[in-house]
Amino acid sequence: MVHLGARAVGGVGFIMGECTAVSATGRISQGCAGLWNEEQVAALKPIVALQCQFGAVTGIQISHSGRKGSAATALEGGSHLDANDPNGWETVGPTADAFDPDGTRLWKSPRALSGSEILEIQNQFVHSAKLALEVGYDLLEVHCAHGYLLHSFLTPLVNTRIDGYGGDLRARARFLLETVEKVRAVWPQDRVLSVRLSVHDFVDGGLTLEDTAQVGVWLKELGVDILDCSGGGAVPEARGAIGNRTAEQPDMAGGGPKKTSLPDMDGGGNNKSKQADALVANSCADLVLLGREMMRDPHWAFNAAKELGTDPRHVLAEQYGFFVGSN
Ligand SMILES: Cc1cc2nc3c(=O)[nH]c(=O)nc-3n(C[C@H](O)[C@H](O)[C@H](O)COP(=O)(O)O)c2cc1C
Repeated sequence: MVHLGARAVGGVGFIMGECTAVSATGRISQGCAGLWNEEQVAALKPIVALQCQFGAVTGIQISHSGRKGSAATALEGGSHLDANDPNGWETVGPTADAFDPDGTRLWKSPRALSGSEILEIQNQFVHSAKLALEVGYDLLEVHCAHGYLLHSFLTPLVNTRIDGYGGDLRARARFLLETVEKVRAVWPQDRVLSVRLSVHDFVDGGLTLEDTAQVGVWLKELGVDILDCSGGGAVPEARGAIGNRTAEQPDMAGGGPKKTSLPDMDGGGNNKSKQADALVANSCADLVLLGREMMRDPHWAFNAAKELGTDPRHVLAEQYGFFVGSN
């Protein structure tokens, strides 16, 4: 409430809540948010109401962690926890391959999902979408990035299945596309449906911008309104997701996803107001997302307005209906 409310008070136009699991075992750790029951709806409602009161458009990202679940919280080091640990559980994935078995976080092998379990998880996404509507979010986002379950099915780096959910790009996208189709059916047409994609895997043999542009076309056909473009996270060496992209890595929102003619959001490494403004002005992105910079400075939007020559009091006036300050 305080964290997200502060961003709304700080003049942010659109606030997306953190990835919120569709089931207890879809979380990354026991410390993660979830949306699978009415108790969670009741807890989220006042948070959304507060953000709306201060003029923000609200969104939530629904997610399943897949083989990157059953971890200790970040504050406790984030290492994988065994299924028999009191805070752990059995993880699932496209195959039994672990995320980073030899790394310091000791990721263990997941269990490969059966076809019926895939359907069960799709139904969990649908249930979570219905609950998000009850909470009152304006935008719903399906998380298919950063190596979590849906992305792990989409990428050839992880998905080597030989059933109908593995093989060529269309088969690897099947879990995502079926999920989105079912979610769209319950998420009202007048509310925005977004999909966050790792549009590039940043590793040879992984997803390319051409692949994800094609996925974007399929998503558009299913009624998705906007693509949220991020990258990396499928395998340990693909670290683009948290914004430390190198100059050689492709522009995520520009390039491939633009070919879908869907609006797009660009996240990662945006922290200067002029840089963010240029992304929109130059048609590289329709929306610019800020992660870490917005955590550092909840008043970033006001300061950006000032730097870009907009009177920040106008932002306040729009939010509160009055001017703050002496002139
Ligand atoms: C603490 C932290 C938590 C994050 N949680 C999520 C998340 O829940 N869902 C998601 O899609 N990305 C998440 N990310 C990635 C951010 O959305 C964003 O893509 C990344 O931080 C790069 O943007 P930035 O340079 O503006 O921080 C997280 C990043 C950080 C640092």
